[in-house]
Amino acid sequence: MRKNFLLILIIIIITIGFLFIKVNAENNTDLKKGAIMPERKILIAYYSYSGNTKYIAEKIQKITKGDLFEIKTVKTYPKNYNEVVEEAKKEKNNDYRPELQSKVENINEYNIVFIGTPVWWYTMAPAVKSFISENDLKGKIIIPFCTHGGGGASSTFIDMAKLLPYSKVLKGIEIYERGNASTDKDINIWIENLDI
Ligand SMILES: Cc1cc2nc3c(=O)[nH]c(=O)nc-3n(C[C@H](O)[C@H](O)[C@H](O)COP(=O)(O)O)c2cc1C
Repeated sequence: MRKNFLLILIIIIITIGFLFIKVNAENNTDLKKGAIMPERKILIAYYSYSGNTKYIAEKIQKITKGDLFEIKTVKTYPKNYNEVVEEAKKEKNNDYRPELQSKVENINEYNIVFIGTPVWWYTMAPAVKSFISENDLKGKIIIPFCTHGGGGASSTFIDMAKLLPYSKVLKGIEIYERGNASTDKDINIWIENLDI
């Protein structure tokens, strides 16, 4: 009789303990899903004249699973390299912002925006300046990336941050043209270290 009573008591204690652990575990998962960590919604917006920045943007998309948006100008730049270089120089000197084909319709939904550009005359391409002035990026996390022809990012990231005083601009990555054998690894490490 006494033995049976003890056995039942032990079973009850084990059952209560099990239920307690289960409820706690479920509550923790709920917190992780929403209450503490805000949902990340990522946009990767980029301008690319000859495909290098597009190539890198697509790599970033594969890692982050964000949405891609190609910044396109209404007027097209000349195909001839020397001509586009000359035109871009004039645009830079006049702080010209070309008209874009479209805006991101649901920009409010994104809290993290990667912005990619080729380096044009030591800074971002004019189309990227247009993108920044046409889309409300206030309060968002901005992550710049650029491709260049050997001169590095130059003033690209500094100039971009100046245009985004109300955003949190994180460390950018600069890639020579389409990169090399270690570029995939470099991009992965860069994104990991952003801690987003
Ligand atoms: C108009 C123009 C200006 C450029 N200016 C620079 C520059 O200042 N520094 C540099 O390293 N590369 C410069 N480049 C090279 C590009 O940054 C490089 O080729 C880039 O990867 C091109 O990217 P895209 O293919 O996405 O257009 C320039 C290219 C063009 C067309």
